Amino acid sequence: MHMHKFEKIWLTFGVGCLVIFLSVVCVSAFYLGNKPASCLTTINPERIDQTKPFNQPGLHKVEGKDWDYELVFVASTFSYTPAKVEVPLGAKVKVIATTKDVIHGFEMAGTNINMMLEPGYVSEYTTTFDKAGEYLIVCNEYCGAGHHLMSAKVEVVK
Ligand code: CUA
Repeated sequence: MHMHKFEKIWLTFGVGCLVIFLSVVCVSAFYLGNKPASCLTTINPERIDQTKPFNQPGLHKVEGKDWDYELVFVASTFSYTPAKVEVPLGAKVKVIATTKDVIHGFEMAGTNINMMLEPGYVSEYTTTFDKAGEYLIVCNEYCGAGHHLMSAKVEVVK
């Protein structure tokens, strides 16, 4: 089979890139042990209501940390607790969330917050709310018949 010179060059380049990229991913995952940050904190999904901070979902002011507030959410089929919460404008907030049952999504429309909530794990994201308004939280992982009904609201107020 005859192959054009440029075809050979591009084919070699393409396969080379693939090998390099896969090697980087494999070394990072298996040798260096890199994982998503949320994998580091685990929780017993059957005891969420008794486990801090999920025994008190909602917004809490904290002292002596790099963030001003902790915003705690518990997801379950098919709702978030709390369903609505007010956050002061300009506050640096650590969003902490987990799920009681199946995998749910946690996407805050119009922000960079987009987490997967897995049973047994705690997901966290720190952000500053510097734009007032209402933010819709939606579930973006299909979780059952009521998936499309699953939502909550964060209101950023002055
Ligand atoms: Cu919860 Cu989809």
